[in-house]
Amino acid sequence: MKVIITGAAGQLGQALCRLAPAPLELITTSRTGGDGSIPLDLADAEACRALVQEHRPDWLINAGAYTAVDKAESEPELAQAVNAGAPAAFAQALQATGGRLLQVSTDFVFNGAQGSPYRHDQPVDPLGVYGASKAAGEAAAADTLEAGRLCILRTSWVYGPVGKNFLLTMLRLMREREQLGVVADQVGCPTATSGLARACWAVLEHGVSGVHHWSDAGAASWYDFAVAIAELGQAAGLLENPARINPITTADYPTPAQRPSYSLLDCTATRQALQLPPLHWREALRQVMGDVVA
Ligand SMILES: NC(=O)c1ccc[n+]([C@@H]2O[C@H](COP(=O)([O-])OP(=O)(O)OC[C@H]3O[C@@H](n4cnc5c(N)ncnc54)[C@H](OP(=O)(O)O)[C@@H]3O)[C@@H](O)[C@H]2O)c1
Repeated sequence: MKVIITGAAGQLGQALCRLAPAPLELITTSRTGGDGSIPLDLADAEACRALVQEHRPDWLINAGAYTAVDKAESEPELAQAVNAGAPAAFAQALQATGGRLLQVSTDFVFNGAQGSPYRHDQPVDPLGVYGASKAAGEAAAADTLEAGRLCILRTSWVYGPVGKNFLLTMLRLMREREQLGVVADQVGCPTATSGLARACWAVLEHGVSGVHHWSDAGAASWYDFAVAIAELGQAAGLLENPARINPITTADYPTPAQRPSYSLLDCTATRQALQLPPLHWREALRQVMGDVVA
């Protein structure tokens, strides 16, 4: 099987490469190339189409994305080109070559107002530019590619031992400061890149199509997540005297982008389809801590 992974330098992209099953012909792309990856600008739709036409993969996993949620508010055209234009271009080319697309998407396609976990078949209603661009990417791919050859996998609060993420930011701030305010009124579920990458590979293994939800199990506020990082970080020897964590509200910490206050994803159907058991986010965090370089 020939597979293209975009965004190979990102946190999910790196986990996908690390956990790729053998035997597999793997082609990776990143913004600048290097490390064996082909350079590809996801904002360049023609280049995205040409990549698929040249390599004719069985699957393309689109793990690359414009993920700067707040910056997207001031760069809507770029966010739209990367998050909607690239999946549209990939879908168009794959429709012609006969390949399949795994489009990774986000809990931020929902507005967070219903206060209970979102099922995969519920209508989207994004609050910000990032969520809107990801929702547009889902819709463009679904409009173009035959249904049985498209899997949209939405996930939430992604973190891992490398890259830009909440875990690594918190570990740094907890070493630098004596106390920290962390938002306690936004609820979702942290998702480790390792489990998410395994879910992606299971999509390919089982030939799964349609819209799916994947996160680790359980629920947390950012405050809960931060408190667990302090506890488990200390236990793992990554922190000596972690900062005190104080719960604050979203109103105390204004950001350019509005975020859903409750974006838990109901992953029941996906776990069955992928035959993957749930792992609680706190256990996943404990495991990731073991891979963080101090
Ligand atoms: N991170 C989260 O909390 C989260 C939550 C829900 C869903 N998701 C989704 O999960 C997927 C993986 O996210 P992630 O956390 O692994 O994100 P990430 O670490 O930010 O990786 C995204 C990658 O895409 C690359 N990229 C951005 N713009 C590009 C462009 N114009 N051309 C080429 N490459 C470009 C980035 O390169 P640079 O580093 O050079 O910009 C980066 O390597 C994405 O679809 C994201 O929307 C993420």
